[in-house]
Amino acid sequence: MWGVAEEPRPLAVQIWDNDPETLAKVGARLAHQYRVSVVDINFGCPVRQVTEKAHSGSYLLKQPDRMGQIIEQVVAACAPTPVTAKIRLGCTRDSINAIDIAQVVEGAGAAALTVHGRTASEMFRGSADWDQIAAIKPHLQKIPLIGNGDLDSAEKVAEAFRRYDVDGVMIARAALGKPWLFAQAAAAVRGEAVPADPTLDEQRELLLHHFDLVCKRFGSKKASVLMRKYACCYAQGRRGAREFRKRVAKIETPEVFYAVVEEFFPREADEAGVRN
Ligand SMILES: Cc1cc2nc3c(=O)[nH]c(=O)nc-3n(C[C@H](O)[C@H](O)[C@H](O)COP(=O)(O)O)c2cc1C
Repeated sequence: MWGVAEEPRPLAVQIWDNDPETLAKVGARLAHQYRVSVVDINFGCPVRQVTEKAHSGSYLLKQPDRMGQIIEQVVAACAPTPVTAKIRLGCTRDSINAIDIAQVVEGAGAAALTVHGRTASEMFRGSADWDQIAAIKPHLQKIPLIGNGDLDSAEKVAEAFRRYDVDGVMIARAALGKPWLFAQAAAAVRGEAVPADPTLDEQRELLLHHFDLVCKRFGSKKASVLMRKYACCYAQGRRGAREFRKRVAKIETPEVFYAVVEEFFPREADEAGVRN
């Protein structure tokens, strides 16, 4: 539960298991002790440890009744905190059952449904099927439908709202490398001019601020290791990203972290100096 108490609100926390009572207990703690804004239940994870080993996540898409029991018990335990569910389209392409599942989710009292437009067996292959996501909408009476999958630009977010009947969208992977995407997407959806990407200087400052926050929580040594993954996200799509990833993967101290960042996110004044 680290960070849950201090994290600014609104804050949704996601939980997974296959036992309604366990989930209700954890949900109640999140809702009443930690006072989170939303408790989300994960019925979408396709990873073996979660599905085959723990019969949870997307494994439960095969068991709509159990999903219903889980949601009902978590909703009752968390009230009045809203409980939401995240699903995939189904387990496999041949067994897409998102419409049935959506009705179970709504009937059990969930406050919203998020759908990742892939099946569990597709993992992250191919592209998200937004037609299948939108096909769910007419079958929901009252809860919002949130579409998810492959939104990595403001234009794609605006396009998703234009083309598909969804009430909201969720951005996942792109948020790690481009946290400013939310402001850009919000502007695009409102029909306003999309703010430019931050300059390299601003991106470096953001990355260093991120590192600083992780240091405060975990201490600088552990933070240097934890930041490997996030630092790589910031470099995504940039020239030299592969070399950056290689170097970042070996970082063990803050000194090396700072040195690598300064090298790959050079200060604009320095770059101008080099050009001159
Ligand atoms: C490394 C990784 C971890 C993820 N962990 C979760 C998770 O814990 N819960 C969840 O609901 N989705 C999880 N997802 C799935 C994303 O939330 C999202 O549904 C999926 O990546 C598609 O959206 P995107 O194209 O915007 O990334 C994870 C995805 C990745 C790549």
